Amino acid sequence: MSNPSEAELIHMFKGIPFTIRSSPELLKSLDTFDAREDDVLLVSYPKSGTHWLAGVITKLYSAQVTLTSPIEFGDISKLEELNKLSSKRIIPTHLDYNMLPTNFKNKKCKMIYISRNPKDTAVSMYHYYRDNPNLPTIDTWTAFFDLFLKGDVVCGSWFDHFLSWEEHANDKNILFLFYEDMKKDLAKTVKEMSMFLGLNVSDNDIQDICKKSSFSEMKSDTEKENSDPSHTVCALTSNRKLIFRKGAVGDWKNHFTPKQNRRFEEMFNEKMKLSKM
Ligand code: A3P
Repeated sequence: MSNPSEAELIHMFKGIPFTIRSSPELLKSLDTFDAREDDVLLVSYPKSGTHWLAGVITKLYSAQVTLTSPIEFGDISKLEELNKLSSKRIIPTHLDYNMLPTNFKNKKCKMIYISRNPKDTAVSMYHYYRDNPNLPTIDTWTAFFDLFLKGDVVCGSWFDHFLSWEEHANDKNILFLFYEDMKKDLAKTVKEMSMFLGLNVSDNDIQDICKKSSFSEMKSDTEKENSDPSHTVCALTSNRKLIFRKGAVGDWKNHFTPKQNRRFEEMFNEKMKLSKM
């Protein structure tokens, strides 16, 4: 059987490419979503460390919490499904700020945005595309690099996503985190998260969370699990090996040619000229 074509896997909504796992009906009805004041959102552009963040946050809570699949994944029944959850909801999303259901904004729900060097994000996404049958076939890194720069990949342009959220980086209900900071000093970030979430977590517990959230621990944990993709952070695969690939900073250096690096830097400097980061 031949691979499904791009048109069979991807559709556009408000100018942004989504996989068919996000139904247009669900995307259209997101604004009717009934957010709760104690919902916590985990926000990211894909491949920025969402699973890592989710692993840490669920360990921070001693009370029962439910980590859902991203709010934009699924069909129209998704909203009802989330409504039925009685415990506190930790809801991931790759939506850009403008598409986020208004209720989350009005109710000032806590949101944690994780960002990663876009060069490493691009490389991570390339491998994810290559190995995931639910995403369009990519022939070469060179071809993917061009698509990434154009924003012609799932969730659209990294730059637009980042900038839409950066505008709100100083909102009191939003915490901005960086993958690279987590790699450098995870305990510091975990402490920051616990304070932001108003949780009282001892230094011993923080050390324990860090140990259990290391790349190797998380990778081997998920290999043991046989998880249902519709209930995990990434509803695009049940193959957990695709998520825990390398977990490194700087892998872009093994992929970018000097010319690609120059093109990327030019685009970065142009797009990010108003960014404060
Ligand atoms: P690589 O493909 O560079 O290895 P997301 O969860 O947003 O899909 O991001 C996936 C990326 O985060 C992958 O990057 C994955 O290896 C990395 N990652 C996941 N868990 C991690 C951890 N505990 N420590 C470091 N990196 C992690």
